[in-house]
Amino acid sequence: MITLERIMEYASTLAPLPQTACRLAAMVADDRSTIDQIAEVIEFDQVLTVEVLRFANSVASASQRKIDTVRTAVIRMGAARILERLIAGHVQQTMRQPIVGYGFQGDELWRHSVAAAVVAESLGSYTGTQIAGISFTASLLHDIGKLVIGRCIGDEELRSVLAAVNSERKEAFETVEKQLLGYSHAQIGAQICATWNLPERIVIAIRNHHLVDEADDPVTDCVRLSNLTAKLIGEGIGHEGMALVIDTTCARRFGFSKESFEAFCANASYRFNEVIATYR
Ligand SMILES: [Fe+2]
Ligand SMILES: [Fe+2]
Repeated sequence: MITLERIMEYASTLAPLPQTACRLAAMVADDRSTIDQIAEVIEFDQVLTVEVLRFANSVASASQRKIDTVRTAVIRMGAARILERLIAGHVQQTMRQPIVGYGFQGDELWRHSVAAAVVAESLGSYTGTQIAGISFTASLLHDIGKLVIGRCIGDEELRSVLAAVNSERKEAFETVEKQLLGYSHAQIGAQICATWNLPERIVIAIRNHHLVDEADDPVTDCVRLSNLTAKLIGEGIGHEGMALVIDTTCARRFGFSKESFEAFCANASYRFNEVIATYR
């Protein structure tokens, strides 16, 4: 079986995040960052400035005035969504490939990732709770470890190893990965985000997104609920299926009842279809 060192060696061949994305991520993670400071970081990067303005105008409704300054774009969209969109643009090409070993045909991993990010974005306004902006990016990248493991280990070999999940085993998928591979996609994903110098809370959330006992941080909690909701709306089922440790208290911590969570899932599905159409 391929070693952790070999997996990380492969991960190091992924294109590093642009410097601006790392700086912007640090600012989004810091509550003291001001709009002017964030706009300054974006404006320092001409390519990003053009992208941000294009994106801000593409999502602005026809009735709104054209957005022609980065500062207005930051006010209108929020720095967290700009960061999420920037990183999504960076990873979408690789994430859109099939990962047959994990049971992702076509662009299923990509759709699952975008769905999770959409859920994180919607949670705050839907529940009235304060959601840390870095949760959007953490949700978007939470399964990036599957991409790397899937690329590194051949489809057939990975499929035969992970087929154990569908046999007599009753363990969660992540437990099976650890037992059979020696590492899980959550651990690998966290290591990748650490090498990309993303904020520690993103790294922790990705590492713990399948661990029920270690969800003290609200960002981790948000990623866990985002992952679950993305699956419930049918995006990114894969070989993992619903072999997750489902923490029923997680949705309650965000104030959901059974009924309101069902309504939220329906809303997330609708919103996801709107957002996925904006990626080309
Ligand atoms: Fe996962
Ligand atoms: Fe996931």
